[in-house]
Amino acid sequence: MKNGQCKNGKILIVNLENKNTKPLERMFSEAGFSNIILAIHFSQALNLYGQVYPEIVILDLVGENSEGFRLMEELRKIEPSSYLPILVTTSLEREFRLKALKSGARDLLRKPFNEIELIRRAENIIEARLLHNEMRLRNDLLNKSIEERTKQLQDCRLEVIYRLGQASEFRDNETGMHIIRMSRLSAHLAKAMGMSDRECELILNASPMHDVGKIGIPDNILLKPGKLTPKEWDIMRTHPDIGAEILSGSKSELLKLAESIALTHQERWNGSGYPKGLKGEEIPIEGRLVALCDVFDALTSERPYKRAFSVEESMAIIEKNRGIDFDPKLVDIFKENLTDMVNIIRNFADEQTDKLSDKS
Ligand SMILES: [Fe+2]
Ligand SMILES: [Fe+2]
Repeated sequence: MKNGQCKNGKILIVNLENKNTKPLERMFSEAGFSNIILAIHFSQALNLYGQVYPEIVILDLVGENSEGFRLMEELRKIEPSSYLPILVTTSLEREFRLKALKSGARDLLRKPFNEIELIRRAENIIEARLLHNEMRLRNDLLNKSIEERTKQLQDCRLEVIYRLGQASEFRDNETGMHIIRMSRLSAHLAKAMGMSDRECELILNASPMHDVGKIGIPDNILLKPGKLTPKEWDIMRTHPDIGAEILSGSKSELLKLAESIALTHQERWNGSGYPKGLKGEEIPIEGRLVALCDVFDALTSERPYKRAFSVEESMAIIEKNRGIDFDPKLVDIFKENLTDMVNIIRNFADEQTDKLSDKS
């Protein structure tokens, strides 16, 4: 640190009792300090401290019940976690000098003191305070850049997840908007059934990968325009296992959830689904949620093999399958929140069609 920096340090001289700040002001001025502020009243000292954040406070303590003790307490409230740069000058007895040190004085000089000693001790406090401020500033900048970097990494991770989900949907003749809609529908349904914000966010970000296993299904089956043969269906039904395998072994909470969704989104409430034929609540809630929202979006969307059904037609199909394909409680909650669900599919409609506007 340069000497000039120390001499530019802001000095707050406080004398609440005999109100005489002149001798100290003269000493610091003659020693080359140019930033000297004076206070002779309690509130004035407090306000000045909060406004200029001086590098040092020279506080004169006269009486045993000096207001200066209270002032130190108040200053600590302004900067509870910071370095309080207080130098006390006093002729009080040992007991009160210790009290002053306990109250927050960084250093203490007994009166009468030597002028050179005062200046040297003040310089030490100013230097320490300036270094402390510099370190705090650097830490703040470092923390900010770590925060930005973490956010960038998080954004990048989520983008990769969405793109991975989109890759599987594109192979299946679906648009990229399908995974955006079904993931938002799933998160909204999760919220409506009482899941926490964090759980809903995990559902939002994990559900786009539900069909990632379709990457492993041959084109002649996945893109076949006509009906699949029983043998081809067997192959098609391996996509949950393939997806779970792709996502398996991760320590990430998000990927673990994505693995569970990939594995169980084709299970059906009555046990007629695949790959394991799980029944009712044996199917994890995330699988039940995604199954319903995935089908709702598929029904209301146009696909190469079907037209887009209206919301009413789609809900009639879903309600017909309440307790058969879908968790009956989830169907009820979905219905109660239908307006929000329809808004989601409208807000993220496929760009090339406007199928919902005249069909719902
Ligand atoms: Fe699927
Ligand atoms: Fe899907």
